[in-house]
Amino acid sequence: MSIVVGIIGGTGLEDPSILTEKTEKEVMTKYGAPSGPLTCGKIAGVRVVILPRHGKDHRFSPSDVPYLANIAALKAEGVTHIIAATACGSLQEEMHPGDLCILDQFIDRTTKRPQTFAEPPTIYHLPMADPFCAPLRRLLSRGCEELHIAHHDQGTMVTIEGPRFSTRAESRMFRAWGGQLINMTTVPEVVLAREAGIHYAAVGLVTDYDSWRECAEHVTIEHVFGVLRGNAQKTTDLIKHVLATIGQTGTILAEDSCDCATSAEAARMN
Ligand code: ADE
Repeated sequence: MSIVVGIIGGTGLEDPSILTEKTEKEVMTKYGAPSGPLTCGKIAGVRVVILPRHGKDHRFSPSDVPYLANIAALKAEGVTHIIAATACGSLQEEMHPGDLCILDQFIDRTTKRPQTFAEPPTIYHLPMADPFCAPLRRLLSRGCEELHIAHHDQGTMVTIEGPRFSTRAESRMFRAWGGQLINMTTVPEVVLAREAGIHYAAVGLVTDYDSWRECAEHVTIEHVFGVLRGNAQKTTDLIKHVLATIGQTGTILAEDSCDCATSAEAARMN
């Protein structure tokens, strides 16, 4: 099986100087149009498909991102692995703004988003104990080490519905629950990728300390975008580095395996 990497987020990777055989494609799916055109091409000889999650000019709010169409469009392009980039707040002192985190868990606080492709009478009782692809996560962690990027190999992401940020009480409750990071988009993206049989890993870029800290600035959107602008290059460098490794080895991690591609079929009823 040849590897095709979908990149969700990934601002900066569309640069024609790093993308060979570049084409832009408007596509349509059974679930509607994805967030924007797909940018297809090769990086380090690996086929990639880049999709900006929030669309052109950030037109989709986190609740309105067409998650079903995005994952369906990537699947239809033959994507086997997704690397998602996401800005996030920190719920832990040691996760500093500017750090990267390779997520390993989520807590779902969304309320308005479809989380399945299934239509009645089909139901997927999808196992979700380990939602992110372990071999792809390890490859990303190794990439951070090789590039000397300050990072965390694990992190539990609390995904809220938004678009507002959390109150201090909510932020403290999420900490008490064991949340380490907070964003508005990881769910249902990771869930739908698993249902579609696509390996999925996410790189969180910490932009702020949310609202839990006493006597400290609380999160604002100006702050989030400011830190994002100053640090987005780290995520771009990491993804390019990991693609170069995949290009050289032709695999994700030869010694590792996972059941991301097959667990949905086993979970299907009707
Ligand atoms: N994205 C970036 N920072 C965030 C925060 N503090 N809460 C929710 N989403 C975020």
